[in-house]
Amino acid sequence: MRILILGSGAREHAIVTALLAEHAGHDITVAPGNAGIAADVAVIHLDPTNGAVVSSFALDNDIELVIIGPEAPLVAGVADKLRQRGIAVFGPGRAAAQLEGSKTFAKRIMDAAGVPTGRASRSGTLAEAVEAINEFGAPYVVKADGLAAGKGVLVTGDRTAAIAHAEYWLNHGSVLVEEFLDGQEVSLFFVSDGHTVVPLSPAQDFKRLSDGNAGPNTGGMGAYSPLPWLPEGFVDEVARTIAVPTVRQLADEQTPFVGLLYCGLIVTRRGIRVIEFNARFGDPETQVVLPRLESPLSSLLFAAATGVLAEQPLPRFSTDVAVSVVLASEGYPETPLTGRPITGLDDALAIDGVTVAHAATAVSSNELVATGGRVLSVVATAPDFAAARDRAYRALAAIHLDGGHYRTDIAESVASPRPPR
Ligand code: AMP
Ligand code: GLY
Repeated sequence: MRILILGSGAREHAIVTALLAEHAGHDITVAPGNAGIAADVAVIHLDPTNGAVVSSFALDNDIELVIIGPEAPLVAGVADKLRQRGIAVFGPGRAAAQLEGSKTFAKRIMDAAGVPTGRASRSGTLAEAVEAINEFGAPYVVKADGLAAGKGVLVTGDRTAAIAHAEYWLNHGSVLVEEFLDGQEVSLFFVSDGHTVVPLSPAQDFKRLSDGNAGPNTGGMGAYSPLPWLPEGFVDEVARTIAVPTVRQLADEQTPFVGLLYCGLIVTRRGIRVIEFNARFGDPETQVVLPRLESPLSSLLFAAATGVLAEQPLPRFSTDVAVSVVLASEGYPETPLTGRPITGLDDALAIDGVTVAHAATAVSSNELVATGGRVLSVVATAPDFAAARDRAYRALAAIHLDGGHYRTDIAESVASPRPPR
């Protein structure tokens, strides 16, 4: 199949790796990609958020499927442009992508569909926000309403910090103050063709910068899949109570959701709650979900893009587990230092079960260098979590980046003989 992928992160590299693992002779181009992706497939430097440019490239090159990785092209309406021009695309149009682009929109859809989520109050002024902060009480959860590249959410016991966060984001639009939800977090992806949804395997993301879930929220510092501590029937329950009603509500509103419905969930004592939807594959969860997929990714995404998901066999997953750890640049997330060389990748890749998904990498003067905050994800698969962690951390020890840092506790709790419930 001739496939165009939009994006440049480790998520897109993991998608490329999964497509190549099919050994189906796909012709893959990524726009714009990164150094790791360019070593595997063709890359092209075009603006992924420009629908006219992307659709012209797709038509000129007989692209049969476009896979949209990040949220920016979705919210910019690139999928709509491609569909108008008759190109099969995996990714929702601008209207349905508001599920990620606007927390107020997502809350409205959840209300209308009866989907369980935390109580929230939208504020357009600081006075309203302070009132909501006082009403909900500590711990405080304050969220920017629009896209904020992972920086819009503050969860804190410090009321002054909560108010300052609200004040900052009110300069960019409205904010949501939300009920604090206590429990384990789960990321569960559903492939949707607008009507039928198909679950992938659950994963857990580590959003905080440092070990023990300390430090600021980031784009995600690591992940593992599957989640051995989930109760039986969990995936079916999320499908029935969350994914199906959400997709049905969007279809009823004439804005069908075709693409990846990312359900960010908290398993509370009172039941499963949605903390956020995303309209795309998660990063770094994709790096641990796709290596375990045994059935062809291309068939699944093409069936979704062409509205025939119900005819497709259900995806199959390996019983092997996967652990992914993100290597970040010094200074991430505030002010990452870039341009530094990365060495040792060959030694890392020589370890059994290890792959590296590149994110912010480029080749400069024949050297691989870091170009941003989250530089790469080391991904290790193995029969159990202790072995996968051992492989991942041996690989990280082999990689050198001056000032580079990573969490050392990814999947630690499930690698012990008796994982906590
Ligand atoms: P979001 O960008 O909405 O996923 O939020 C980022 C992170 O903040 C989540 O992964 C959670 O760890 C945390 N978070 C968001 N909303 C809540 C909430 N209502 N209660 C507790 N933690 C939350
Ligand atoms: N891992 C969180 C996200 O992709 O938004």
